[in-house]
Amino acid sequence: MTTRKIALALLLIAGAAPALAETPRDFVAKYATEAGAGFKPSAARGKSFFAREFGVSKDMPSCTTCHTKDMSATGKHVITGKVIEPLSPAANPERFTTAKKVEKWFKRNCNEVLGRECTPAEKADFIQFAIEGGKA
Ligand code: HEC
Repeated sequence: MTTRKIALALLLIAGAAPALAETPRDFVAKYATEAGAGFKPSAARGKSFFAREFGVSKDMPSCTTCHTKDMSATGKHVITGKVIEPLSPAANPERFTTAKKVEKWFKRNCNEVLGRECTPAEKADFIQFAIEGGKA
């Protein structure tokens, strides 16, 4: 390879790296920043959020309706019966590694369970709780 080609290859690798390197902690940090100055992610708040019955949807009162009270367990979609792989990153390393997926499912599930989108603070707490074991 010429020096120029090597430099180009390095640039491409550097450019691609952030997308590949997203970790659950990156998402906590990103949402915590969006939540504003002074916000500190809390697994305890994430835990009560996860188990809370919001009273909006009869079929899906809480996140635990489909994900069970243990994020390291396999869940089940309450309507379709489809198996849902564990949400805990320790049990399922694919969790919270792709912005597209994280955003898509937060949006859909929060709208269904809460009747609105989740706030950045709720998302940061939720993922912090998932990182710290996710047992409600
Ligand atoms: C009606 C069933 C159901 C309920 C209730 C539910 N979810 Fe989910 N959730 C799913 C399904 C289905 C998927 C996608 C399948 C998969 O990724 O295994 C998913 C995936 C996710 C993901 C994607 C994570 C990733 O990176 O892969 C997040 C985040 C999530 N849910 C958060 C929530 C939150 C927060 C609540 C409560 C407000 C909630 N879910 C309630 C069914 C549900």
